[in-house]
Amino acid sequence: MKTEIFWVDENSIDILSRASQLIKDGSLVAIPTETVYGLGANALDKNACLSVFKAKGRPADNPLIVHVSSPEEAEKISFTCPLYYELANRFMPGPLTIILPKRDNVPREATGGLDTVAIRCPSHPVARKLIELSGVPIAAPSANSSGKPSPTTAMHVFDDMNGKIPMILDGGECDVGVESTVITIKDNSIILLRPGKVTLEDLKTVCKDSQIAGAVKEELKAGEKPLSPGMKYKHYAPKAELYLIDDKYIDFVEFTKQKQKTENCAVMCYDEEISQLENKNLLPVGKREDIKMQTHNLFILLRRADDLGVDTVYAHLPQDEGESLAIYNRMIRACSHRVLGGINGKG
Ligand code: TXA
Ligand code: MG
Repeated sequence: MKTEIFWVDENSIDILSRASQLIKDGSLVAIPTETVYGLGANALDKNACLSVFKAKGRPADNPLIVHVSSPEEAEKISFTCPLYYELANRFMPGPLTIILPKRDNVPREATGGLDTVAIRCPSHPVARKLIELSGVPIAAPSANSSGKPSPTTAMHVFDDMNGKIPMILDGGECDVGVESTVITIKDNSIILLRPGKVTLEDLKTVCKDSQIAGAVKEELKAGEKPLSPGMKYKHYAPKAELYLIDDKYIDFVEFTKQKQKTENCAVMCYDEEISQLENKNLLPVGKREDIKMQTHNLFILLRRADDLGVDTVYAHLPQDEGESLAIYNRMIRACSHRVLGGINGKG
């Protein structure tokens, strides 16, 4: 199959109409969102959903997120509640996904066999226009091959999906850079299953009774049943060994400067550290305090680390709170919990 890439904005009506026809016909279209690129399919078409799993090589029990053009559209496919609308008023459209009980029209192929469906109303104008033109909710997991970092550019998508899907809509680099915050609602309380740009503190402004699921920071214990199927799958691990350095205990620059002399390594450093390190395989993540930039760059740099052909990658251990929790959660999984320094250091 030939994969075509089109540069689009929300006014590219001819191309978006073609894309919406593909969706209606049961085909797949990669779409930009404000978080990462998604691999879109008609969420109500079971065969289209099955094609998504096939293109990604995704385990069949890991459910897809269903994208709607307005919070109210969730009524057609799920059972909402007052707290859903309180959250929607504050965070939708935007990078928040809410898990709700599903209606019968949503095929179990989309939800990995579960009775619930993950609802997200994206803010990206291209994604919104495409859902509107398609006239159906769009199931869209991140558009990477299973086990690779989520794509934040159309070229990332092309690298993984070339020959497998007919169309990629190129909307430029994704703004946020990591996937949406995923939450579930239980008896008027919130459990955060995957951290993203919408933080625990943000959620608490709407619902005081909000907490983080254990598996966000820790490894699942043997035999423990995850609240979200996505938690149990091995996530992206770079080809090189990734080590996180707790810089409260280890001088990051001194340590990595030594490693640069003796190892074929890459260093994910803060911008302020560039001038102190050897100019070899540096992957600057942004300024130390600029969590937004670091989040934006995370998957771009992890993909670049793979391209460099290094044996090891060293990075700072991110803070595990606020907006930085999203980076922590992705990095701690990517390094298989290899942390150097500190009381929890397992180096
Ligand atoms: O930002 C995003 O959320 C992107 C863009 C494309 O919207 N999508 C995305 O989808 O990251 P995906 O499929 O890569 O991640 C979906 C996560 C998985 O961890 C999955 O297990 C969880 O959401 N999930 C989906 N439906 C669920 C459900 N009914 N119950 C529990 N977890 C669910
Ligand atoms: Mg994904």
